[in-house]
Amino acid sequence: MLIKNVHILDDNQDFTGDIKVENGIITTVGINLGDDAVCHDFAGQDVVLLPAFTDLHVHFRDPGFTYKEDVKTGSEAARAGGYTAVNLMPNTNPVADTMEIVKDVEQRVADEGLIYANQTLSMTKGLQGQDYKHLESLRKGEILFVTDDGKGVNDDAVMEDIFQICKAKNITIMAHEEDSRYSATDMRQAENLMTFRDIELSEKYDAPIHFCHVSTIEAIKAIAEAKSKGIPVSCEVTPHHIFATGDEVNHYRVNPPFREKADVEALITAIQNGTVDAIATDHAPHTAEDKQNGAPGMTGIEIAFPLCYTKLVKEGHINLKQLVKLMSTKPSEMMKLNKGKIQPGYLADFVIVDLNTPFTIDSNTFRSKGKNTPFNGRTVYGKVMQCFKSGEKYL
Ligand code: DOR
Repeated sequence: MLIKNVHILDDNQDFTGDIKVENGIITTVGINLGDDAVCHDFAGQDVVLLPAFTDLHVHFRDPGFTYKEDVKTGSEAARAGGYTAVNLMPNTNPVADTMEIVKDVEQRVADEGLIYANQTLSMTKGLQGQDYKHLESLRKGEILFVTDDGKGVNDDAVMEDIFQICKAKNITIMAHEEDSRYSATDMRQAENLMTFRDIELSEKYDAPIHFCHVSTIEAIKAIAEAKSKGIPVSCEVTPHHIFATGDEVNHYRVNPPFREKADVEALITAIQNGTVDAIATDHAPHTAEDKQNGAPGMTGIEIAFPLCYTKLVKEGHINLKQLVKLMSTKPSEMMKLNKGKIQPGYLADFVIVDLNTPFTIDSNTFRSKGKNTPFNGRTVYGKVMQCFKSGEKYL
C-alpha cells in the first residue's frame, strides 16, 4: 500500500512525501515513490500525518465496571483519539492482581482488533497497600509495569520491599503519588511527600520508577533534580493538568486535583526542558451518576491531542515535533513497541490531523461511554481525522 502526497511529521522529520507499507510495516519513506497500489492520496488536503499516539495511562474499567467503559468502547475511543496502543490501569473488579486477569484483558482487547493494550499488574493485592507476595512469583520480563494507580502505597516499609522486588525483576513501578492520610486535608502534601519518598527509594535501590500524572511545582522540581543526579525516574503529565487551573474548571474533581497557575507553568517548563517524558491521559470514564456521587476523573482519550496541540503548540510553548515525541515516540519506547516514528521497520500506525479548523468539544459525540469532562464547549484545534493501525484505516 502507498500513502501519497502527505505532510509527514515525526520527532525528527517534517516534509511532504509518500510512505510505502507492506504487511502492516513501513518499508519506504520518501518522495515520488511511484504510483503502484496508491491507497490514500492526500494531495491538496490540509492535514498532517503523525505517528499514532501511545497512552501510558488509561482506564478501560473492564472487568467489573463495564457500565463506565469496556474493552470495545475503550478501544473505539482510543482509535478515535488517534491512539493505537494503551497501557491499562489495574483498578478493575476484580483488581488486575493476577497474570490470569492481565492476560485475559490483553486478549480481549486484541480480539476487538482495534488497538494494542498492555495491562499493568497491581502492585499490592486488591490495591490494599499491604500484600505484595504476588510479585515474588513473577518471572523476569513477564510484566513491564506494576501500579496501584488510583491509590498510593502509604506504608514506607511495604514500598521499600516492592522497590527491591521490582529492581530484581526488571519491572518499572508506576506510581500514583497520594498519601491518603493527607487526602482530606492537603492534596498538595499528599502528592509531594510520597513523591519525595519514592525518589529516595529509587536512588537507594537504583530501581526505576515512573511518576503518574505529576501535578505540583514541588513534585516536578524534585523529579527534575532526581533526573539530573541520574536517579532512574521518569514521569508523565496529563493534558488536563496543563490545559486548566482549578479555578478555571470550578475545581472539577480529579486525582490529583487541578492545580494553580504556578503549577501549570512549572509543568509546561518541565515539558519544554525535557523533564517530562510523556503526556498520558489518565482517561477515567464515569457515569453522570458516579460523578455526582464524587467519583474523581474525566474521560480524555478522544480530546488529548486537541487539548495539547491548542495549549502547548498553538500558544508557542513547544513545536509539533516535541509534542509527537511526548505523545508517541517516547511512550512507545517505554512500552517497548516498534512504533512512534515514520521510518522503515516501524509499524504503519499513523494519525491524520487537521491543525487549522477550530472545533468545539462536545462529549456527546465521544465513542467512550464516559461523557464526563469539564471541557465541553471549549474551542480547540487539532482534530483527529483518521487513524491507521498496521496500515488499516479507522474513522
Ligand atoms: O481522577 C482519577 N480517577 N485519578 C485516578 O488516579 C484514578 C481515576 C479513576 O480510576 O477513576
